[in-house]
Amino acid sequence: MANPYQYAETNQERFLDEYQHLLKIRTISTQPQHAGDVARAADWLKDMMLEIGMERAEVILMPAGRCPLVLGEWSGAGPDAPTVLIYCHYDVQPAAVADGWVTEPFEPTIVDGRLFCRGAVDSKLHVMANLKAVESWLAADAKPKVNIKIVLEGEEESGSENINAFIAAHPERLAADIAVISDGAILAPDQPSLTYGLRGICALELHVQSPVNDLHSGHWGGSVHNPIQALCEILAQLHDDNGTVAVPGFYDDVAAVTAKDRALLEQVEPFLQAEWDDVVSAPAVWGESEYILPERLGARPTLEINGIHGGYTGDGMKTVLPARAFAKITCRLAPRQDPERVVRCVAEHIKNIAPATVSVDVQTRGPGAEAVLLDVDSLAMRSAAAAYAHAWGVEPVFERTGGSVPIAFECMKVAKELVTMSYGLKSGRAHGPNENIYLQNFYNGVRAMIKFIEIVGESRG
Ligand code: BES
Ligand code: MN
Repeated sequence: MANPYQYAETNQERFLDEYQHLLKIRTISTQPQHAGDVARAADWLKDMMLEIGMERAEVILMPAGRCPLVLGEWSGAGPDAPTVLIYCHYDVQPAAVADGWVTEPFEPTIVDGRLFCRGAVDSKLHVMANLKAVESWLAADAKPKVNIKIVLEGEEESGSENINAFIAAHPERLAADIAVISDGAILAPDQPSLTYGLRGICALELHVQSPVNDLHSGHWGGSVHNPIQALCEILAQLHDDNGTVAVPGFYDDVAAVTAKDRALLEQVEPFLQAEWDDVVSAPAVWGESEYILPERLGARPTLEINGIHGGYTGDGMKTVLPARAFAKITCRLAPRQDPERVVRCVAEHIKNIAPATVSVDVQTRGPGAEAVLLDVDSLAMRSAAAAYAHAWGVEPVFERTGGSVPIAFECMKVAKELVTMSYGLKSGRAHGPNENIYLQNFYNGVRAMIKFIEIVGESRG
């Protein structure tokens, strides 16, 4: 095969078949009953790495025995050549027909150039586009002028409990000149973008208890502070009328949105507004009025109530005064906010405002993750921009995304430069029903990664 671009073009159909094979495996990391599926996918991916010509490939079990990492290496470019590390995750969120799927969630279905399946965009698109780009290089006459490492995570969607410890214990395994975090979305099918910021995350749970047991609301109502009411009173005090988080200290370390950010993000505003209208379609936009939509979505921290429950919600009437109420909260973090400190601020504030008439227990959940903010002028970023311009035929714009990839901050410790490469769309409905991609984005993604490897090899080789 003459060159990698031709190889990719010729093999498009097989690439699509293999992508669909991976999509059918229910790699739901958060549900222990799917541990076998996750392990099966990991083995399949390891075998594929060896088949496409990686020199080494390994399934690395995590301490809990579930959700392994798959690590592959090709060092044929020699010790003086730069190393590119490509990170993606192969696990997915749960999906059920009842959530509103029009097709079977784990049966890939192609309609009008779009492929519908759980994991289509988040993130098996990235796993397969990048593996197939590397395959195209290793099958070509001229070999790549960069060494390549690929790391595929199996527990990104359930909080990445173990990968950071693995990196800390074996930094040399993932050491690289450039790390590519390949996940997320571009702005529009025909407008590629490069993400120069990802938000961090932290999580907590709030348990409110008042009477020891559920009570007769007629016997005791009027004398007991209803825990659901108390929970709502607490939650209602966590934001002000402008949508700004009303927790003292919450914004202390937040990196300011600069004039350069504003200039870059103004360019993406019309695209994000269009995506918002299409995907969110709420009655009106909400949030901090002094920030434009791309800043609210990517640069500013947030506090979200993810779920609440308590009391009786079944059929008919139940005159009960419930004993307990419960809420889950996550915060998206801006660059420089420490997840542990933010969790402490929120927990302390909740305890301070909690009325003495109920008991409140606040618990931290998950390890959290710091945000990352990348240099748009780095060599890695400029190489990625040129790769997108080649693959899409359109210059990319720069944006900051609201999502989190917990490994991203740790990656900055083992790689000299970090860049993100996304091929999907927000309207691909990651985490929701009818998740999908445009097939063209898969093929463009393959071409973008082929080009990226070429450019990095030429600029440093
Ligand atoms: N693909 C997303 C992260 C993402 C979203 C990156 C948008 C870029 C743009 C990833 O799979 C994800 O959903 N991450 C979780 C992490 C959480 C479970 C710790 C998230 O952001 O909610
Ligand atoms: Mn996800």
